[in-house]
Amino acid sequence: MSEMQEKKPRVRTEMSPDGDMIRRVREINDRAADETGVRPAAFVLTFGCQQNEADSEHIAGMCRDMGYTVTDTPEQAALIMVNTCAIREHAEKKALSIVGQYKHLKAKNPSLLIGVCGCMVAQEHRREQLKHSYPYVDFVFGTTVLHQFPALLYDKMQSGRRRFCADVADHVVPENMPVVRESGYRAWVSIMYGCNNFCSYCIVPYVRGRERSRRREEIVAEVKELVNSGYRDITLLGQNVNSYAKGSDWGYDFADLLAALDAIEGDFTLRFMTSHPKDASSHLIDVMARGKHIAHHFHLPMQSGSDAILKKMNRHYDRARYLAIVKELRERIPDITLTSDIIVGFPGESEQDFEDTLDMLRTVRFDMLYSFIYSARKGTPAAEMVQIPPEVQGARFDRLLALQNEIAAEKNIALVGQTVRVLCDGASKNDENYCSGRTDGNKIVLFHGDAKALTGQFVWVKIDRAEPFALYGELRK
Ligand code: SAH
Ligand code: SF4
Ligand code: F3S
Repeated sequence: MSEMQEKKPRVRTEMSPDGDMIRRVREINDRAADETGVRPAAFVLTFGCQQNEADSEHIAGMCRDMGYTVTDTPEQAALIMVNTCAIREHAEKKALSIVGQYKHLKAKNPSLLIGVCGCMVAQEHRREQLKHSYPYVDFVFGTTVLHQFPALLYDKMQSGRRRFCADVADHVVPENMPVVRESGYRAWVSIMYGCNNFCSYCIVPYVRGRERSRRREEIVAEVKELVNSGYRDITLLGQNVNSYAKGSDWGYDFADLLAALDAIEGDFTLRFMTSHPKDASSHLIDVMARGKHIAHHFHLPMQSGSDAILKKMNRHYDRARYLAIVKELRERIPDITLTSDIIVGFPGESEQDFEDTLDMLRTVRFDMLYSFIYSARKGTPAAEMVQIPPEVQGARFDRLLALQNEIAAEKNIALVGQTVRVLCDGASKNDENYCSGRTDGNKIVLFHGDAKALTGQFVWVKIDRAEPFALYGELRK
């Protein structure tokens, strides 16, 4: 990964995708559409977090501008883009296995183009693997050069040569990126890219480069436009939103940005993720407490409840600091929903360290947890430490889940009898008799109603029954 760790000047260059390249690809696709009577289609498959989902919406946007229709069936596609994740081994295995399956599609249709992008291929060893073991993959590029996608595609179309782009452009902040959003009422808005924290287990800083932020005026303009076109739920994205604009001379920070967005007129909810406990400030909590539109939800990854493990993880906070933030949040915003991420079985985690994590779960009583078994990532410091046997990791993971399920069930039961605001997502996928939606705290609520009419609308639901993973209730007028 040496090419990614090189020191670079911290210049922020704003960049859009190359319009000339987009036009040239579109001309090729227009000719194909004229000749065959069918417009070429692009299929975009996404692994990983919201940041990748947001990137994929820009990939789809560039595809549209390049004259593709966007399809959800790979068999019909002239172009397949796989946007990969590298956070755990399982994520990489899934992506490689899917890419492997596309070999058959290419055999049937030799003119099919296959591109692989995202976090996994920002690693040199994965690019090499694709180059040598996946000969039907046509082009590959990492997350920091998303705006170069049209140029790489055009080059492949013109020259026929495979392209494995090793560029890292983590001084660039792309603006004016075309976008095709998945939803008409929930939207992602990236406010910053990259991460400087180098938590010892994590691959993200290596694959997404150094932190860089978008300007407040660009973000405010984007959110205004979303609200005006009917978006109801807007999530600001960054690996560590609390360090937004850090190191700049702009004179504002994340809390100021949030306050500016909260001042926008309209019927909408603002969310943000993710916050790092080391930078969660009283100013931010204050802005949330006073906010009109800001969801009363804080996702604050704790990772471990053991001070010794937090130190080895390079997290820069301890139990006491974490508990102090939780106390302040609950004092200022009594109905706050708290969620967190936990890693089980980090190298050197003793039984006592793990008990310390369970103890924190009992003390804080999170509404929901995203828990993960530690996965060693090549090139990170923790991968060099003495590892915990998988069976110990697995047994601890099960104990953690059992405890959290109990807590979540109790917390949900406490909501019975309350009337909560819910953004309706349409008919429930599990039971078509119900509409499904989410509360401000992102809890799933099922209720009877006209799914078609209510999709994308805020409704009030009186909760009458609680299950560990969902609440049930009836619509209130
Ligand atoms: N930037 C965010 C998280 C990004 S990754 C933050 O700092 O909170 C999402 C979650 O994946 C992390 O919070 C962590 O719990 C988990 N994770 C990251 N690297 C991991 C690894 N190597 N093994 C297991 N889980 C990991
Ligand atoms: Fe990874 Fe830590 Fe950065 Fe989050 S803050 S992306 S866990 S290095
Ligand atoms: Fe996200 Fe996975 Fe990359 S979690 S930042 S897509 S490594």
